[in-house]
Amino acid sequence: MISTALLLLQQPFDLNDRYRPTPIPDRVILTWADDPATSIAVTWRTSRAVGQGRIQIRPSGAGPSLEADAVQRDARHIDVAMPITEVKDNTPFIARWHTVQVRDLTPKTAYVYRVGDGVNWSEWHGFRTASDRPEPFSFIYFGDAQNDVRSRWSRVVREAYSDLPKASFVLHAGDLINRAERDLEWGEWFEAGGWINARIPQVATPGNHEYYRLINEKGERTGERALSPQWIPQFEYPRNGVPGLEDTNYFIDYQGARIISLNSSEKFAEQTEWLDRVLTENRNRWTLITFHHPMFSTAKGRDNAELRAAWKPVFDRHQVDLVMQGHDHTYGRMNLATGLTMQDDSSGTVYVVSVSGPKMYELGENAAQMRRTAAQTQLYQLVHVDQNKIRYESRTATGELYDAFEILKGADGRKTIVEKLGRRPAGP
Ligand SMILES: [Fe+2]
Ligand SMILES: [Fe+2]
Repeated sequence: MISTALLLLQQPFDLNDRYRPTPIPDRVILTWADDPATSIAVTWRTSRAVGQGRIQIRPSGAGPSLEADAVQRDARHIDVAMPITEVKDNTPFIARWHTVQVRDLTPKTAYVYRVGDGVNWSEWHGFRTASDRPEPFSFIYFGDAQNDVRSRWSRVVREAYSDLPKASFVLHAGDLINRAERDLEWGEWFEAGGWINARIPQVATPGNHEYYRLINEKGERTGERALSPQWIPQFEYPRNGVPGLEDTNYFIDYQGARIISLNSSEKFAEQTEWLDRVLTENRNRWTLITFHHPMFSTAKGRDNAELRAAWKPVFDRHQVDLVMQGHDHTYGRMNLATGLTMQDDSSGTVYVVSVSGPKMYELGENAAQMRRTAAQTQLYQLVHVDQNKIRYESRTATGELYDAFEILKGADGRKTIVEKLGRRPAGP
Protein backbone atom coordinates (compact mmCIF):
# COMPACT_ATOMS: atom_id res chain seq x y z
CA MET A 1 0.00 0.00 0.00
CA ILE A 2 1.26 3.48 -0.84
CA SER A 3 1.41 5.68 2.20
CA THR A 4 -0.24 9.10 2.18
CA ALA A 5 3.07 10.67 3.16
CA LEU A 6 4.71 9.30 0.02
CA LEU A 7 1.85 10.55 -2.17
CA LEU A 8 2.26 14.03 -0.75
CA LEU A 9 5.88 14.05 -1.88
CA GLN A 10 4.90 13.33 -5.49
CA GLN A 11 4.69 16.37 -7.75
CA PRO A 12 2.77 16.17 -11.04
CA PHE A 13 5.30 16.40 -13.85
CA ASP A 14 4.37 18.98 -16.47
CA LEU A 15 3.80 17.10 -19.74
CA ASN A 16 4.60 20.34 -21.57
CA ASP A 17 8.22 19.74 -20.59
CA ARG A 18 8.09 16.25 -22.03
CA TYR A 19 6.76 17.55 -25.37
CA ARG A 20 9.24 20.38 -25.97
CA PRO A 21 11.04 20.12 -29.33
CA THR A 22 14.70 19.03 -29.38
CA PRO A 23 17.22 18.55 -32.21
CA ILE A 24 16.00 14.93 -32.48
CA PRO A 25 13.05 14.67 -34.91
CA ASP A 26 9.71 13.94 -33.27
CA ARG A 27 6.04 13.91 -34.42
CA VAL A 28 7.08 12.23 -37.68
CA ILE A 29 4.03 11.83 -39.89
CA LEU A 30 3.26 10.64 -43.43
CA THR A 31 0.57 12.26 -45.58
CA TRP A 32 -0.06 12.68 -49.29
CA ALA A 33 0.07 15.96 -51.14
CA ASP A 34 0.08 14.29 -54.56
CA ASP A 35 -0.41 10.86 -56.17
CA PRO A 36 -0.16 8.10 -53.48
CA ALA A 37 1.34 5.73 -56.08
CA THR A 38 4.41 7.86 -56.77
CA SER A 39 4.79 10.35 -53.93
CA ILE A 40 4.85 10.76 -50.16
CA ALA A 41 4.93 13.80 -47.88
CA VAL A 42 7.00 13.44 -44.71
CA THR A 43 6.72 15.98 -41.90
CA TRP A 44 8.46 16.20 -38.53
CA ARG A 45 9.30 18.65 -35.77
CA THR A 46 12.51 19.82 -34.12
CA SER A 47 13.80 22.74 -32.12
CA ARG A 48 15.20 25.74 -33.98
CA ALA A 49 18.71 24.40 -33.39
CA VAL A 50 18.19 22.40 -36.58
CA GLY A 51 19.03 24.39 -39.70
CA GLN A 52 18.50 22.24 -42.77
CA GLY A 53 16.20 19.25 -42.34
CA ARG A 54 16.62 16.35 -44.75
CA ILE A 55 15.31 12.91 -45.60
CA GLN A 56 17.20 9.80 -46.67
CA ILE A 57 14.97 7.37 -48.55
CA ARG A 58 15.38 4.18 -50.56
CA PRO A 59 13.54 0.99 -51.49
CA SER A 60 13.39 -1.22 -48.43
CA GLY A 61 15.95 -3.96 -47.95
CA ALA A 62 16.72 -6.64 -45.42
CA GLY A 63 20.33 -5.56 -44.93
CA PRO A 64 21.30 -3.06 -42.27
CA SER A 65 23.34 -0.64 -44.42
CA LEU A 66 20.31 1.38 -45.32
CA GLU A 67 22.09 4.66 -45.96
CA ALA A 68 24.25 3.09 -48.68
CA ASP A 69 21.74 3.43 -51.52
CA ALA A 70 19.55 6.14 -50.03
CA VAL A 71 18.88 9.36 -51.86
CA GLN A 72 18.87 12.54 -49.82
CA ARG A 73 16.41 15.42 -50.21
CA ASP A 74 16.27 18.75 -48.41
CA ALA A 75 13.13 19.74 -46.54
CA ARG A 76 11.54 23.15 -46.22
CA HIS A 77 10.69 24.40 -42.76
CA ILE A 78 8.37 26.75 -40.96
CA ASP A 79 8.68 28.07 -37.42
CA VAL A 80 5.51 27.88 -35.38
CA ALA A 81 5.08 30.14 -32.36
CA MET A 82 2.52 29.01 -29.86
CA PRO A 83 -0.15 31.72 -29.71
CA ILE A 84 -1.12 33.83 -26.73
CA THR A 85 -4.20 32.18 -25.30
CA GLU A 86 -6.28 31.80 -22.20
CA VAL A 87 -4.94 28.30 -21.66
CA LYS A 88 -2.88 28.61 -18.50
CA ASP A 89 -0.29 25.90 -19.11
CA ASN A 90 0.36 27.00 -22.69
CA THR A 91 3.78 28.55 -22.11
CA PRO A 92 5.13 30.17 -25.26
CA PHE A 93 7.88 28.55 -27.33
CA ILE A 94 8.73 28.17 -30.99
CA ALA A 95 8.96 24.85 -32.81
CA ARG A 96 10.36 24.17 -36.27
CA TRP A 97 8.32 21.97 -38.60
CA HIS A 98 10.04 20.34 -41.57
CA THR A 99 8.28 18.94 -44.62
CA VAL A 100 9.63 17.20 -47.66
CA GLN A 101 7.64 15.85 -50.55
CA VAL A 102 9.34 12.94 -52.28
CA ARG A 103 8.19 12.27 -55.85
CA ASP A 104 9.02 9.79 -58.64
CA LEU A 105 8.57 6.80 -56.36
CA THR A 106 7.70 3.39 -57.83
CA PRO A 107 4.09 2.20 -57.31
CA LYS A 108 3.46 -0.80 -55.01
CA THR A 109 6.92 -0.61 -53.53
CA ALA A 110 8.18 -0.76 -49.95
CA TYR A 111 10.47 2.10 -48.95
CA VAL A 112 12.48 3.00 -45.86
CA TYR A 113 13.40 6.50 -44.79
CA ARG A 114 14.77 8.52 -41.94
CA VAL A 115 14.63 12.24 -41.25
CA GLY A 116 17.05 14.53 -39.47
CA ASP A 117 19.73 17.14 -40.05
CA GLY A 118 22.68 14.94 -41.04
CA VAL A 119 23.78 14.45 -37.43
CA ASN A 120 20.64 13.76 -35.43
CA TRP A 121 18.32 11.30 -37.16
CA SER A 122 15.02 9.56 -36.54
CA GLU A 123 14.96 5.79 -36.71
CA TRP A 124 14.38 4.25 -40.16
CA HIS A 125 10.66 3.97 -40.87
CA GLY A 126 8.99 1.85 -43.53
CA PHE A 127 5.97 2.54 -45.75
CA ARG A 128 4.49 1.28 -49.02
CA THR A 129 3.43 3.26 -52.09
CA ALA A 130 -0.04 2.67 -53.56
CA SER A 131 -0.78 0.87 -56.81
CA ASP A 132 -1.30 3.16 -59.82
CA ARG A 133 -4.51 1.31 -60.76
CA PRO A 134 -7.71 0.22 -58.96
CA GLU A 135 -6.90 -2.54 -56.49
CA PRO A 136 -8.43 -3.69 -53.19
CA PHE A 137 -7.30 -1.80 -50.11
CA SER A 138 -8.29 -1.25 -46.47
CA PHE A 139 -8.18 1.67 -44.12
CA ILE A 140 -8.97 2.67 -40.52
CA TYR A 141 -11.48 5.41 -39.67
CA PHE A 142 -11.69 7.18 -36.31
CA GLY A 143 -14.31 9.56 -34.92
CA ASP A 144 -13.27 12.19 -32.35
CA ALA A 145 -10.22 11.31 -30.24
CA GLN A 146 -10.27 14.75 -28.60
CA ASN A 147 -9.97 14.29 -24.83
CA ASP A 148 -7.52 12.53 -22.57
CA VAL A 149 -5.80 11.42 -25.74
CA ARG A 150 -2.66 9.99 -24.21
CA SER A 151 -4.43 8.14 -21.44
CA ARG A 152 -7.67 6.91 -23.03
CA TRP A 153 -7.38 7.17 -26.83
CA SER A 154 -4.00 5.47 -27.32
CA ARG A 155 -5.41 1.98 -26.65
CA VAL A 156 -7.99 2.45 -29.42
CA VAL A 157 -5.38 3.42 -32.03
CA ARG A 158 -3.22 0.50 -31.04
CA GLU A 159 -6.11 -1.98 -31.10
CA ALA A 160 -7.08 -0.76 -34.59
CA TYR A 161 -3.51 -1.01 -35.83
CA SER A 162 -3.21 -4.54 -34.40
CA ASP A 163 -6.33 -5.54 -36.34
CA LEU A 164 -5.27 -3.91 -39.59
CA PRO A 165 -1.50 -3.38 -39.67
CA LYS A 166 -1.52 -3.25 -43.48
CA ALA A 167 -4.01 -0.37 -43.59
CA SER A 168 -3.38 1.93 -46.55
CA PHE A 169 -4.18 4.98 -44.45
CA VAL A 170 -5.81 6.16 -41.23
CA LEU A 171 -8.69 8.63 -41.52
CA HIS A 172 -9.57 11.09 -38.72
CA ALA A 173 -12.99 12.77 -38.89
CA GLY A 174 -12.09 15.87 -36.85
CA ASP A 175 -11.67 16.87 -33.18
CA LEU A 176 -8.35 15.07 -32.98
CA ILE A 177 -7.69 17.19 -29.88
CA ASN A 178 -9.76 19.43 -27.58
CA ARG A 179 -7.98 22.83 -27.40
CA ALA A 180 -6.68 23.80 -30.83
CA GLU A 181 -3.95 26.10 -29.54
CA ARG A 182 -2.63 23.80 -26.83
CA ASP A 183 0.55 22.09 -27.97
CA LEU A 184 0.42 19.65 -25.07
CA GLU A 185 -2.59 17.99 -26.68
CA TRP A 186 -0.85 17.56 -30.04
CA GLY A 187 2.01 16.07 -28.02
CA GLU A 188 -0.44 13.54 -26.60
CA TRP A 189 -1.92 12.82 -30.05
CA PHE A 190 1.49 12.10 -31.52
CA GLU A 191 2.48 10.01 -28.52
CA ALA A 192 -0.69 7.90 -28.84
CA GLY A 193 -0.18 7.27 -32.57
CA GLY A 194 3.62 7.02 -32.19
CA TRP A 195 5.45 5.37 -35.06
CA ILE A 196 2.17 4.33 -36.69
CA ASN A 197 1.96 7.93 -37.98
CA ALA A 198 5.41 7.56 -39.53
CA ARG A 199 4.46 4.29 -41.23
CA ILE A 200 0.86 4.72 -42.42
CA PRO A 201 -0.29 7.98 -44.07
CA GLN A 202 -2.81 9.94 -42.02
CA VAL A 203 -5.82 11.57 -43.70
CA ALA A 204 -7.29 14.20 -41.37
CA THR A 205 -10.16 16.67 -41.55
CA PRO A 206 -10.52 19.38 -38.89
CA GLY A 207 -13.37 19.60 -36.38
CA ASN A 208 -14.63 22.62 -34.45
CA HIS A 209 -12.06 21.83 -31.74
CA GLU A 210 -9.24 22.44 -34.22
CA TYR A 211 -10.34 26.10 -34.15
CA TYR A 212 -9.72 28.61 -31.36
CA ARG A 213 -10.58 32.21 -30.65
CA LEU A 214 -7.82 34.73 -31.24
CA ILE A 215 -6.76 37.05 -28.46
CA ASN A 216 -5.28 40.49 -29.07
CA GLU A 217 -2.19 42.06 -27.42
CA LYS A 218 -4.35 43.34 -24.57
CA GLY A 219 -5.43 39.79 -23.80
CA GLU A 220 -9.00 40.33 -25.08
CA ARG A 221 -10.89 37.89 -27.24
CA THR A 222 -11.32 39.23 -30.76
CA GLY A 223 -14.18 36.90 -31.67
CA GLU A 224 -12.19 35.81 -34.71
CA ARG A 225 -11.53 32.08 -35.02
CA ALA A 226 -8.35 30.53 -36.33
CA LEU A 227 -7.25 27.04 -37.27
CA SER A 228 -4.86 25.32 -34.85
CA PRO A 229 -1.36 26.78 -35.46
CA GLN A 230 0.00 23.24 -35.79
CA TRP A 231 -2.51 22.06 -38.41
CA ILE A 232 -1.02 23.41 -41.63
CA PRO A 233 2.62 22.75 -40.61
CA GLN A 234 1.92 19.14 -39.60
CA PHE A 235 -0.66 18.00 -42.19
CA GLU A 236 0.52 18.33 -45.79
CA TYR A 237 -2.32 17.64 -48.25
CA PRO A 238 -2.98 18.29 -51.96
CA ARG A 239 -3.61 21.93 -52.81
CA ASN A 240 -6.69 21.04 -54.86
CA GLY A 241 -9.41 22.44 -52.56
CA VAL A 242 -11.09 25.80 -52.09
CA PRO A 243 -8.54 28.64 -51.69
CA GLY A 244 -8.25 29.64 -48.04
CA LEU A 245 -8.97 26.06 -46.89
CA GLU A 246 -5.48 24.68 -47.52
CA ASP A 247 -4.80 21.30 -45.87
CA THR A 248 -8.42 21.05 -44.67
CA ASN A 249 -10.39 20.74 -47.95
CA TYR A 250 -8.83 18.42 -50.55
CA PHE A 251 -9.18 15.11 -52.36
CA ILE A 252 -6.86 12.14 -52.85
CA ASP A 253 -7.39 9.36 -55.41
CA TYR A 254 -6.36 5.99 -54.00
CA GLN A 255 -6.60 2.75 -56.03
CA GLY A 256 -10.03 3.38 -57.53
CA ALA A 257 -11.53 5.53 -54.78
CA ARG A 258 -11.74 9.29 -54.41
CA ILE A 259 -11.22 10.28 -50.75
CA ILE A 260 -12.55 13.77 -50.04
CA SER A 261 -12.08 15.99 -47.00
CA LEU A 262 -14.57 18.81 -46.51
CA ASN A 263 -14.07 21.46 -43.87
CA SER A 264 -17.42 21.67 -42.06
CA SER A 265 -16.41 24.73 -40.03
CA GLU A 266 -15.88 27.28 -42.85
CA LYS A 267 -16.92 28.35 -46.37
CA PHE A 268 -19.82 25.91 -46.96
CA ALA A 269 -21.06 27.55 -50.16
CA GLU A 270 -17.62 27.60 -51.82
CA GLN A 271 -17.13 23.93 -50.97
CA THR A 272 -20.57 23.01 -52.32
CA GLU A 273 -19.62 24.32 -55.74
CA TRP A 274 -16.15 22.75 -55.51
CA LEU A 275 -17.61 19.38 -54.45
CA ASP A 276 -20.05 19.34 -57.34
CA ARG A 277 -17.19 19.89 -59.79
CA VAL A 278 -14.84 17.39 -58.11
CA LEU A 279 -17.58 14.72 -58.17
CA THR A 280 -18.58 15.47 -61.76
CA GLU A 281 -14.98 14.93 -62.86
CA ASN A 282 -14.55 11.84 -60.66
CA ARG A 283 -13.71 8.71 -62.69
CA ASN A 284 -13.13 6.50 -59.65
CA ARG A 285 -15.40 3.58 -58.82
CA TRP A 286 -16.01 4.77 -55.26
CA THR A 287 -16.46 8.09 -53.49
CA LEU A 288 -15.68 8.31 -49.78
CA ILE A 289 -16.11 11.61 -47.95
CA THR A 290 -15.10 12.75 -44.50
CA PHE A 291 -15.98 15.89 -42.56
CA HIS A 292 -16.73 16.60 -38.93
CA HIS A 293 -20.30 17.85 -38.34
CA PRO A 294 -22.83 15.11 -39.19
CA MET A 295 -25.47 15.42 -41.90
CA PHE A 296 -27.84 13.61 -39.51
CA SER A 297 -27.03 14.04 -35.85
CA THR A 298 -26.87 11.08 -33.55
CA ALA A 299 -26.58 13.07 -30.31
CA LYS A 300 -29.36 14.71 -28.35
CA GLY A 301 -30.34 18.28 -29.26
CA ARG A 302 -28.02 18.60 -32.25
CA ASP A 303 -28.65 19.38 -35.89
CA ASN A 304 -26.56 20.87 -38.70
CA ALA A 305 -29.42 21.96 -40.95
CA GLU A 306 -27.45 24.58 -42.87
CA LEU A 307 -24.71 22.14 -43.75
CA ARG A 308 -27.23 19.47 -44.78
CA ALA A 309 -29.09 21.91 -47.01
CA ALA A 310 -25.82 22.81 -48.73
CA TRP A 311 -24.18 19.44 -49.19
CA LYS A 312 -26.74 16.62 -49.16
CA PRO A 313 -28.19 17.48 -52.61
CA VAL A 314 -24.68 17.15 -54.04
CA PHE A 315 -24.12 13.79 -52.30
CA ASP A 316 -27.48 12.59 -53.69
CA ARG A 317 -26.81 13.82 -57.22
CA HIS A 318 -23.47 12.02 -57.40
CA GLN A 319 -24.47 8.90 -55.42
CA VAL A 320 -21.66 9.30 -52.87
CA ASP A 321 -21.01 5.91 -51.28
CA LEU A 322 -19.83 6.49 -47.72
CA VAL A 323 -19.72 9.58 -45.50
CA MET A 324 -17.57 9.37 -42.34
CA GLN A 325 -18.24 11.94 -39.61
CA GLY A 326 -17.68 12.71 -35.93
CA HIS A 327 -18.69 15.52 -33.53
CA ASP A 328 -21.60 13.79 -31.77
CA HIS A 329 -19.61 11.50 -29.42
CA THR A 330 -21.95 8.57 -30.04
CA TYR A 331 -22.25 6.00 -32.83
CA GLY A 332 -24.90 6.03 -35.52
CA ARG A 333 -25.18 4.52 -39.00
CA MET A 334 -27.91 5.14 -41.51
CA ASN A 335 -28.53 4.81 -45.20
CA LEU A 336 -30.41 7.54 -46.93
CA ALA A 337 -31.66 8.12 -50.43
CA THR A 338 -33.57 11.16 -51.55
CA GLY A 339 -37.13 11.06 -50.35
CA LEU A 340 -36.69 7.78 -48.52
CA THR A 341 -36.43 6.91 -44.86
CA MET A 342 -33.19 6.53 -42.95
CA GLN A 343 -33.35 2.79 -43.50
CA ASP A 344 -33.35 1.96 -47.17
CA ASP A 345 -31.47 -1.05 -48.51
CA SER A 346 -31.54 -0.25 -52.18
CA SER A 347 -29.24 2.70 -52.72
CA GLY A 348 -28.24 6.07 -51.40
CA THR A 349 -25.34 7.13 -49.25
CA VAL A 350 -24.30 5.45 -46.02
CA TYR A 351 -23.69 8.01 -43.26
CA VAL A 352 -21.70 7.08 -40.19
CA VAL A 353 -20.98 9.03 -37.01
CA SER A 354 -18.39 7.49 -34.71
CA VAL A 355 -16.27 8.31 -31.67
CA SER A 356 -12.89 6.88 -30.69
CA GLY A 357 -12.03 8.99 -27.63
CA PRO A 358 -13.53 8.95 -24.12
CA LYS A 359 -15.90 11.96 -24.26
CA MET A 360 -19.50 10.70 -24.52
CA TYR A 361 -22.91 12.24 -25.29
CA GLU A 362 -26.43 10.84 -25.12
CA LEU A 363 -28.21 9.51 -28.21
CA GLY A 364 -30.78 11.89 -29.66
CA GLU A 365 -34.15 11.93 -31.40
CA ASN A 366 -32.91 10.50 -34.73
CA ALA A 367 -31.39 7.41 -33.16
CA ALA A 368 -34.57 5.33 -33.36
CA GLN A 369 -34.50 5.53 -37.15
CA MET A 370 -30.90 4.45 -37.48
CA ARG A 371 -29.59 1.01 -38.39
CA ARG A 372 -27.19 0.75 -35.51
CA THR A 373 -26.30 3.10 -32.68
CA ALA A 374 -24.09 3.14 -29.59
CA ALA A 375 -23.53 5.33 -26.56
CA GLN A 376 -20.76 5.16 -23.96
CA THR A 377 -18.60 3.11 -26.34
CA GLN A 378 -15.19 3.89 -27.82
CA LEU A 379 -15.01 2.53 -31.36
CA TYR A 380 -12.85 2.24 -34.46
CA GLN A 381 -13.76 1.28 -38.00
CA LEU A 382 -12.05 -0.97 -40.54
CA VAL A 383 -13.12 -0.35 -44.14
CA HIS A 384 -12.20 -2.75 -46.96
CA VAL A 385 -12.63 -1.43 -50.50
CA ASP A 386 -12.81 -3.82 -53.45
CA GLN A 387 -13.84 -3.39 -57.10
CA ASN A 388 -17.54 -4.18 -56.51
CA LYS A 389 -17.82 -4.15 -52.74
CA ILE A 390 -17.07 -2.09 -49.68
CA ARG A 391 -16.96 -4.15 -46.50
CA TYR A 392 -17.29 -2.08 -43.35
CA GLU A 393 -16.77 -3.06 -39.72
CA SER A 394 -17.05 -1.02 -36.58
CA ARG A 395 -15.33 -2.52 -33.55
CA THR A 396 -15.32 -1.50 -29.91
CA ALA A 397 -12.17 -0.44 -28.09
CA THR A 398 -11.77 -4.06 -27.02
CA GLY A 399 -11.88 -5.35 -30.60
CA GLU A 400 -15.42 -6.75 -30.48
CA LEU A 401 -17.39 -6.48 -33.74
CA TYR A 402 -20.18 -3.95 -33.17
CA ASP A 403 -21.54 -3.08 -36.62
CA ALA A 404 -20.97 -4.54 -40.08
CA PHE A 405 -22.41 -4.07 -43.55
CA GLU A 406 -21.44 -4.26 -47.19
CA ILE A 407 -22.13 -1.91 -50.06
CA LEU A 408 -22.40 -3.94 -53.28
CA LYS A 409 -22.14 -2.04 -56.53
CA GLY A 410 -23.24 -3.55 -59.84
CA ALA A 411 -21.78 -2.82 -63.26
CA ASP A 412 -24.59 -0.28 -63.79
CA GLY A 413 -23.61 1.54 -60.59
CA ARG A 414 -26.68 0.39 -58.66
CA LYS A 415 -25.99 -0.29 -55.03
CA THR A 416 -27.30 -2.72 -52.44
CA ILE A 417 -26.61 -2.44 -48.73
CA VAL A 418 -26.27 -5.81 -47.03
CA GLU A 419 -26.47 -6.10 -43.25
CA LYS A 420 -23.77 -8.46 -41.97
CA LEU A 421 -24.90 -8.79 -38.36
CA GLY A 422 -28.51 -9.56 -39.27
CA ARG A 423 -31.50 -7.67 -37.88
CA ARG A 424 -30.64 -6.64 -34.39
CA PRO A 425 -31.58 -3.81 -32.09
CA ALA A 426 -30.14 -0.47 -33.16
CA GLY A 427 -28.21 -0.22 -29.91
CA PRO A 428 -28.40 0.97 -26.33
FE1 LIG B 1 -16.87 18.55 -32.70
FE1 LIG C 1 -15.92 16.43 -30.54
